[in-house]
Amino acid sequence: MDEPLVIEGGRPLRGSVRVSGAKNASLVIMAACVLVQGETVLENIPRIRDVEVLGAILTSLGARLTWGEDGSLSITVPDNIGVETPYDLAKRLRASNLLLGSLLGKRREARICLPGGCDIGSRPMDLHLKGLAALGADVRLEHGFVEARAGRLTGSRVYLDFPSVGATENIMMVATLTPGQTIIENAAKEPEIVDLANFLNAVGARVRGAGTDVIRVEGVSELRGTRYAVIPDRIEAGTFMAAAVATGGDVVVGNVIPTHLYPIIAKLQETGATIVEVPEGLRVIGNGEIMPVDIKTLPYPGFPTDMQSQMLALLSVARGTSMVVENVFENRFAVVDELSRMGARIKVEGHTAVVEGVPRLCGTKVKATDLRAGAALAVAALMAEGVTEIDNSHYVYRGYERFAEKLRSLGAAVR
Ligand code: EPZ
Repeated sequence: MDEPLVIEGGRPLRGSVRVSGAKNASLVIMAACVLVQGETVLENIPRIRDVEVLGAILTSLGARLTWGEDGSLSITVPDNIGVETPYDLAKRLRASNLLLGSLLGKRREARICLPGGCDIGSRPMDLHLKGLAALGADVRLEHGFVEARAGRLTGSRVYLDFPSVGATENIMMVATLTPGQTIIENAAKEPEIVDLANFLNAVGARVRGAGTDVIRVEGVSELRGTRYAVIPDRIEAGTFMAAAVATGGDVVVGNVIPTHLYPIIAKLQETGATIVEVPEGLRVIGNGEIMPVDIKTLPYPGFPTDMQSQMLALLSVARGTSMVVENVFENRFAVVDELSRMGARIKVEGHTAVVEGVPRLCGTKVKATDLRAGAALAVAALMAEGVTEIDNSHYVYRGYERFAEKLRSLGAAVR
């Protein structure tokens, strides 16, 4: 188990920090490599826990993964790659469910143990299964496993009741090697979906419309390896931006794609921060006073749910009351109890958290309950009076590469 993250608050963050590759693009593109003949070399993949676990799962199925001197990740998948994810590894990572689509596409069968990962709601897979069944797969959910088999797969039209990121990704991946045209309606539009489509097209697939509500995939017979660099992590960027505002700092967040950050930029500007594009990325200047704002999380291009906890932390010291509505997950306010231990005044009613700003937070012992809750507690700790000890810091290392190091490089007192 990792050491707790110990942070002494009260120091404005200053300097510049480089954002790593996107966790949620890296995981799905690593899974998509199962569809590819020969070697794929991926660049800008972050060395985070979730990447290591998914890498271990791929290796246990027979893939060969090697990290290059230049930090790139080479993945070579044999034709007879295994089709059953090992429980002890898959239970640690919800994204292991993305192997359902790529294994079904490659081997016409898959046996995925229902994943674990963060505890932010039931996170069913009904839309994944509906999509794969529409393409002709025989899908069964039993004894904590999803089993999918396909004698024949045929392109088809799938409507997603909710623009699920994972379901969109699984259906896209199977469809690339499914004869005929597959149309996904009400598809997720996140930048990570576009990155997956760009990767799939780079290895020879025919995916159109990614980033819009309707994605069309023409099946092809095989995909061939290439070299591909994943996009930067917009949630890591947003987390450092929120920390800069929270501490009244002045930070340049480098290696970002500003269009991916518009909802986050807009909301942080509403709190009173100054955010300007500079050649290296975005310069974020907090002026010490946080204005209250109302937030509704929504699928992209709405405000991202993965930034909701970090905003709760920031708004807990706003000069007024903020309303935060979580519309994507049914249970993503676990961090409220821990922020309250630091003196925050937050009341949760169903999907809504009412945040009454207090003059300051006080450092104490807290525990991370999921990846973004851990990040939120770090934001709170950076601006709190005194020392905060964040337990279960392993959650943070699931998704943030060299997190403590990057904070220290901005002048934070982190142990
Ligand atoms: C992806 O999870 C991300 N994870 C999550 O990031 C992110 O919060 C989420 O998308 C939303 O943006 C990865 O990409 C690895 P969903 P995913 O399917 O695909 C419901 C992080 O911190 N749903 O879009 O699991 C579901 O219960 C993580 O980096 C169904 O009802 O998210 C949830 O309420 C956390 N049936 C909502 O949709 C289904 O079949 C959004 O889920 C699938 C989903």
